[in-house]
Amino acid sequence: TVRSKRNVWTRKDTEKHWPVREDASHKGSHGKVGIIAGSANMPGAAVLTTAAAVRSGAGLTQLNTHKDIFGTLVNHIPEATLFNREGDLEAFIEGKDIIAIGPGLGVNEETKRTVKYLLDRFEGPLVIDADGLSGLQDSKSKIRERTHPTIISPHPGEMARLIDSSPGEVNRKRFEISREMAVDYGMYVILKGPNTLVATPAGEIFINDTGNAGLAKGGSGDVLTGMLAAFLARYENPQHAISSAVFMHGFTADYLVERGAGTETITASDIIDNLQDTFAVIG
Ligand code: APR
Ligand code: MG
Repeated sequence: TVRSKRNVWTRKDTEKHWPVREDASHKGSHGKVGIIAGSANMPGAAVLTTAAAVRSGAGLTQLNTHKDIFGTLVNHIPEATLFNREGDLEAFIEGKDIIAIGPGLGVNEETKRTVKYLLDRFEGPLVIDADGLSGLQDSKSKIRERTHPTIISPHPGEMARLIDSSPGEVNRKRFEISREMAVDYGMYVILKGPNTLVATPAGEIFINDTGNAGLAKGGSGDVLTGMLAAFLARYENPQHAISSAVFMHGFTADYLVERGAGTETITASDIIDNLQDTFAVIG
């Protein structure tokens, strides 16, 4: 059994580990991020994930998505380059430091195939969220064989599907379930919700205490995924990157509330738009 150790990841921790962006740096120093997200029906998920990565300091961000939505995407995130979903995955992963997959892909054979391919072939930190999690069902053993960090970010419903349980059960045993999964598969498990927790492959747990009900809204999970990708690109230590991204996501929602926003009115895009301010407060 694993030593049960729970820590709160605080503002002090986030400040202490905040990476310095050297004046003499260039885009290559901050990581090449690949995002696989969005589909003809769900272009918004791709916009949110990619814009969050760009805003969180990734050096270069490329989005692999459905070509029918290229026009929409370029209008929302001109900073990202685009890669046709029908293209060669080997060409897409070439040169990427981090890949995040999942938001708005839909649960289908292509999504599952792509997740499997990345688990086998991608040599770098891999973030799997949302519909990408459906590709894990019969590929869990591949995670153990990876030599680079694997990070999953389910909400309680997605976690319940992964372990064939119910959201209620997941919430009751959130510490045990996420720790056991992290240790068994040698990955980082981000179990989302109020007080999101991060379980590490070593069995440690870091609890987040930022965020509010303004985040209980479609799209805020996609923003976190983009932030995770960029933070993993900027940090040496994956746990510091993950916990700091989770902290900043919630901290930005709290910052909006402190300035008078109602939790009803906060949108996922508002989080992205206010990262400029909260990065300035913490960084
Ligand atoms: N307090 C603090 N943080 C919260 C709260 C809360 N009350 N509610 C939600 N959050 C945070 C979570 O911790 C997480 O970071 O907001 C984010 C929500 O992420 P998701 O649950 O992944 O939501 P999202 O993907 O944006 O939208 C819901 O998930 O179930 C699927 O298909 C469904 O499209 C839907 C999507
Ligand atoms: Mg989600």
